[in-house]
Amino acid sequence: MSQRSCLSVVLAAGEGTRMKGDLPKVLHQIAGLPLIAHVVRATNSGGTVDVAVVVGREADAVRAAVAPFAAHAETFLQTERLGTAHAVLAAREAIARGYDDVLIVFGDTPLVEAQSLADLRAELAAGADVVVMGFQAPDPTGYGRLIERDGSLVAIREHRDATEEERGIDICNGGLMAVSGKHALSLLDAVGNDNAKGEYYLTDIVEIAASRGLKVVATRAPYENILGINNRAELAQAEAVWQARRRTALLLNGVTMTAPETVHLSHDTQIAQDALIEPNVFFGPGVTVASGARIRAFSYLEQATVAENAEIGPFARLRPGARIGRKAKVGNFCEVKNAVLDEGAKINHLSYVGDAHVGAKANLGAGTITCNYDGFGKHHTEIGAGAFIGSNTSLVAPITIGAEAYIASGSVITDDVPDDALAFGRARQTNKDGFGKRLRQKYAARAGK
Ligand code: UD1
Ligand code: CA
Repeated sequence: MSQRSCLSVVLAAGEGTRMKGDLPKVLHQIAGLPLIAHVVRATNSGGTVDVAVVVGREADAVRAAVAPFAAHAETFLQTERLGTAHAVLAAREAIARGYDDVLIVFGDTPLVEAQSLADLRAELAAGADVVVMGFQAPDPTGYGRLIERDGSLVAIREHRDATEEERGIDICNGGLMAVSGKHALSLLDAVGNDNAKGEYYLTDIVEIAASRGLKVVATRAPYENILGINNRAELAQAEAVWQARRRTALLLNGVTMTAPETVHLSHDTQIAQDALIEPNVFFGPGVTVASGARIRAFSYLEQATVAENAEIGPFARLRPGARIGRKAKVGNFCEVKNAVLDEGAKINHLSYVGDAHVGAKANLGAGTITCNYDGFGKHHTEIGAGAFIGSNTSLVAPITIGAEAYIASGSVITDDVPDDALAFGRARQTNKDGFGKRLRQKYAARAGK
């Protein structure tokens, strides 16, 4: 099937008024990825399809959202919303290039699975000319009904146009279709608008194709797959469905999650088997966790990698560019940004490490801060292997701490420290005998006690 060329026409010209906001509906996200990108990703299994998105506005932003998942992405403007067939025809120029398969999908149906779309295309490969994705609706009101006879689909009747008897049918049109490229334009051009809404219905191509003796069939997909999003409550529901699906996939793949329902994943989160994820962990985009790593409770990770057997958290934050090496540890209330920790390095408590390289087995005490920013530029901190940074140390970057060096607690380090050296960057302590008692008496007298 993959040798067959394919164009995905994605309908996204709807205003999305019920989303109540400025962002075009299809650019709202689930799992950190725009709805429309989920749909396009599902239409191909290796970035091989060309994509034509039909938009009402914000063409550039929509094209950019789908481009990573398409071989070639272009947008077409539908200036008047005259119906789904009219919308598909906005992409006439692309369809006319003559693809084997034309997939028609809705941009606001992000839970559609690649397998369901592959099923549609498989029917085309097996000789069908029009394939419709059907589903059994718990409540069919509002959906187009599939009128089937002897295993063939003869018509789709929109709810408003259906007879009482037809409304009794609960097998509905999910809205996703595959059409043979050689018939697509002639079928679409034959669609009229003589119906209850006065719109050009895409669904009419079924009856037209059947009357021409073409082969029209319906496949079945689970109801969840075709859930469309119209408002932010449905957006949140779809997010929940997506999260649940993905967590189950990870669990079955050998990832341990003690309270999976509290773990938030992104579209590209990668977690290897035998990793352990404690409750209430947030994975933003771009996170990879290797085998045996442990992400402890209440940690927040984005654009970060965690190597084998490393331990993060509880209450740790890994920001973009954090690369945590094997067996390294980042403990509670530590923030790591754009920093590489080599094998076995430890930052266990209350620290900020940004724009840094921490050598193998270096140990950063509680309250270690890399002062990486001077208000204008970011500067690098280099910490050698095996270095020991005493608690409450400020490392003023750019700075290099040598391998196996010691930094005394409470230091402010502004000059490089050679390998094996001990650096003090703090005032000397002086003790004054009896001064504590004298001070107390003085203050008591002043307060009249
Ligand atoms: C459509 C189907 C119906 C199916 C249902 C599934 C038709 C005629 N009906 O109905 O059989 O059961 O989906 O959810 O196809 N759009 C445009 N331009 C237009 C009109 C629509 O881009 O001129 C886009 C919308 O933004 C949306 C999609 O097409 O993404 C579907 O349009 P919508 O009006 O929601 O169709 P339904 O009435 O739900
Ligand atoms: Ca709809």
